[in-house]
Amino acid sequence: MLSDVTDLLACPQCRAEVELDGGAIVCASGHRFDVARQGYVSLTAGTAVKFEGDSADMIAARAQFLSAGHYDPFVHSVATAVGERGGQPRVLEVGAGTGHYLAGVLDHCPGSRGLGLDVSKYAARRIAKSHPRTGAVVADVWAQLPVRDGVISDVLCVFAPRNAAESARVLEPGGHLTVLTPTDRHLVELIDVLGMVNVDERKVERLDASTSDYFAPATRTEVEFAMELTRSDVAQLVGMGPSARHFGPGELAAKVADMPALSTVTASAIVSSYERA
Ligand SMILES: C[S@@+](CC[C@H](N)C(=O)[O-])C[C@H]1O[C@@H](n2cnc3c(N)ncnc32)[C@H](O)[C@@H]1O
Ligand SMILES: [Zn+2]
Repeated sequence: MLSDVTDLLACPQCRAEVELDGGAIVCASGHRFDVARQGYVSLTAGTAVKFEGDSADMIAARAQFLSAGHYDPFVHSVATAVGERGGQPRVLEVGAGTGHYLAGVLDHCPGSRGLGLDVSKYAARRIAKSHPRTGAVVADVWAQLPVRDGVISDVLCVFAPRNAAESARVLEPGGHLTVLTPTDRHLVELIDVLGMVNVDERKVERLDASTSDYFAPATRTEVEFAMELTRSDVAQLVGMGPSARHFGPGELAAKVADMPALSTVTASAIVSSYERA
């Protein structure tokens, strides 16, 4: 709930500490941000947010696909990376989607708390319900994050945009940034058949370069496994990702209908942890 993480938040207008006052997050200067009835709060500085984030349909597809457990080895690997340092982590997930990974981390780490941030309000609604120790915030990862300096022990970024400078600012000394990036084998069986978008995020070298001003590499684990997916699993998998925007109505369903009843599909990613320098 938001009350679990209010002490980690900062006013997006003036950077001051905030508190929960009835149905709103407020700062000492009187800036006020209403908590939506679904339990999340939008903490944006008032300027129009440039990125709309994932749609309701994409988030619904993601929720279904993840709750079926297809990506559980990824969740386990991220949770292990955060949990192996012990303590009671204060975890910020940027681009948290449905909050599924954050919930996995919190379940793995007793006494931990989670702040799930996403620019999509459809995501924030899910995040708010994803775990009792998670608070949900709508914010843009490319703007200054509505989080206090040095209060977070772990920033998590899973298949999502990352802002290294802001991650470093909100992390405590010795805090860690943990990033899951797909390798070029990820979903390889589907990319050609379905004409999926090839995400240009795959290079770990690119990740190292974008973090090197603020972070030192700590650990790196490769996770690769085979999934047995039905046609409806495949439709959800495509529907939850960037390729969803590139198909016309009915186009994806038609392509999926031509596939076998069960497809073996590779899931492949690298989980990299960086320590705040
Ligand atoms: C591919 S999804 C990954 C979601 C989640 N981490 C997962 O793996 O299930 C990317 C997420 O980043 C969010 N996102 C995209 N641009 C963003 C931005 N500028 N600021 C915050 N979130 C953003 C999207 O709304 C979406 O939920
Ligand atoms: Zn303020």
